[in-house]
Amino acid sequence: MASIKHLMNREFKHLSGGLFEEVNKADVGEGAGNLIAQGVDIMAWADPFFPDPSIPESVKKVMIEAITDGFPSHYSMPIGMKELRVEIASKIERETALSINPSRNVIVTPGSDSGLLYAMMPFIETGDEIMVVDPSYPSNYLDPVLLKGSVIHVPLDEKNNYALNIDEFEKRLTSKTKMVVITHPNNPTTTVFRKDNLIQLCNFIKKNDLILVCDQAFEDHIFDGIEFISPCTLPGMWERTVTVCSISKGLGLSGFRIGYIYAPDEIMDIYYAAAVNVLGAASTITSIGALQALREREYLRSLTKRHEQRRTLAYSIFSKVRGISLEKSESGILTWINVSKLGTSSDIVAYLLKEANVLVNDGSSYGELGKGHIRVVTSVFGDDEKAKEVFHRIATALEKKYLSNNM
Ligand SMILES: Cc1ncc(COP(=O)(O)O)c(C=O)c1O
Repeated sequence: MASIKHLMNREFKHLSGGLFEEVNKADVGEGAGNLIAQGVDIMAWADPFFPDPSIPESVKKVMIEAITDGFPSHYSMPIGMKELRVEIASKIERETALSINPSRNVIVTPGSDSGLLYAMMPFIETGDEIMVVDPSYPSNYLDPVLLKGSVIHVPLDEKNNYALNIDEFEKRLTSKTKMVVITHPNNPTTTVFRKDNLIQLCNFIKKNDLILVCDQAFEDHIFDGIEFISPCTLPGMWERTVTVCSISKGLGLSGFRIGYIYAPDEIMDIYYAAAVNVLGAASTITSIGALQALREREYLRSLTKRHEQRRTLAYSIFSKVRGISLEKSESGILTWINVSKLGTSSDIVAYLLKEANVLVNDGSSYGELGKGHIRVVTSVFGDDEKAKEVFHRIATALEKKYLSNNM
């Protein structure tokens, strides 16, 4: 049959999913499935404790009870189950001191990836320019383009600990600039943007009448007492900020596919209006589970401790390797490593796959400035000893590479 691609729009037509060409990235097509089947350890999915079970007992219990009762065969509300929105609103209120109306300011989304696209949808028109920091989460580069906007990369300087540099934003401002997108804490760098730095960004946004989409998928686990600020709490920002969150990373329940957006009434009105048409509704059974998980406040705190220990373990092992450099992760479940002295990031990913039987992420997926880096998801596996063993395999392989490069 003749190709049907000419009927697709320009933005989608150019996507490739690994069906007709070999894609080695773990998160595309069958790539990961094939590698798992071959016994490769996956440290390339930001999925806490993958592949080991991580549903708290109390959460299992309410979900089993709900299934026994039978209600989860039905839709939840398109904007999200009421009790879940109430619990989410109280979490946001506790953490930000904002006053959040669960029936006006919160919408549940099927995970935050779709939430992120939905957050941008009402704003982006053909030709709009969207400023995205680099390095950053790949969806931040793709989503605006799917909506027919164009992405303007705003560099973050590794030497300045990946802080936001407002001069770099100013330089790239045009009459077409519509939106700034940040991931905070940043994925892949784990950077928690500091308050004074966020104030500078927010002043830039307000001065130029822009909208901020802030993806806070990693907000729940911040280390070393670093202060975490949601930009929407800064003066004059609530009106122009859409905050995108998820329980995937924070509660380690990525398979539940529950995310949420919080925003002011005027913006949320649009999200509520289109929810049934665009989002459908989040899964009922996992909404019930998410509600219970959010009620277990101590559970979230216990996870922060576990991730922080993992982070420290990974750092203590990787920081001894010659030829690479890294900082202690500030948040979350990732470690970001500069391997540029050893080779290109894609070469190092391929090398680690072969030499250490582990898949990590090629930094170049996270933007131009991700090149020369790898991202290692350090909080996979339920068992610390297993994680430690794989960290050692990575470290040994990188040290070997260093020695062979320097013979
Ligand atoms: C920064 C960031 N935002 C959003 C997501 C999407 O997460 P989910 O759709 O599971 O909520 C991810 C997943 O890796 C992420 O890293």
